[in-house]
Amino acid sequence: MANLKHMRSIAGLDVPYASHPAVRALKRQGYAPSIHGTKLWGASQVLIDYLSSKSTTSPKTVIDAGCGWGLAGIWCAKKFDAAVGSLDADPDVMPYLELTAQLNDTAVTPIVGRFEDLNADILSATDLLIGADICFWDELVDPVVAMISMAIESGTKQIIIADPQRAPFLSVCERVLEDFGGELLEWRAEGTRTAGALLVIDNA
Ligand SMILES: C[S@@+](CC[C@H](N)C(=O)[O-])C[C@H]1O[C@@H](n2cnc3c(N)ncnc32)[C@H](O)[C@@H]1O
Repeated sequence: MANLKHMRSIAGLDVPYASHPAVRALKRQGYAPSIHGTKLWGASQVLIDYLSSKSTTSPKTVIDAGCGWGLAGIWCAKKFDAAVGSLDADPDVMPYLELTAQLNDTAVTPIVGRFEDLNADILSATDLLIGADICFWDELVDPVVAMISMAIESGTKQIIIADPQRAPFLSVCERVLEDFGGELLEWRAEGTRTAGALLVIDNA
């Protein structure tokens, strides 16, 4: 698909704009994400930039929670040759996830489900749990804290949540840092104006 004017490059990946013919075709077919999974959000770029700066990280199993179009998980699949489960509550994001994976000649496993559906069996088999811009409403604080807590208790080796520093995300950080420790970092994707914060928990 040589629609270069309808795509941008982020961290070596091709990301379609809303004007991309394949994106427009999905919209015409009626796929209409309704929980903000309508585009690629900047926190994904912040997360990818952070991961790319850590040469020691090499997870083999990754869950991208609240994946939307799924760029961070797709980047992990390519960079680490990892098996990636891309989870989202909104089934309508999945065609956009699969399109973005296909444009980048890679594959991830789409999973329609909520943060609350991730159980100890899944999380104990996960090296890296990531999420980008997944805590944008107050009612998401409890499920996101519960997901992170279960991941830590189940033995997920690393958890990284990126965010543009929305208030609910900062509430999540306060609770998780108090209960389990970890780091809250400010981060800017190199060579860009895209910045945010990262909650990083090393649990290996
Ligand atoms: C702001 S978008 C971010 C998407 C993607 N991570 C990115 O950075 O582009 C938030 C995503 O979280 C998903 N989401 C919201 N609540 C969820 C829940 N309880 N469980 C799973 N996914 C959820 C939405 O459907 C949406 O795709």
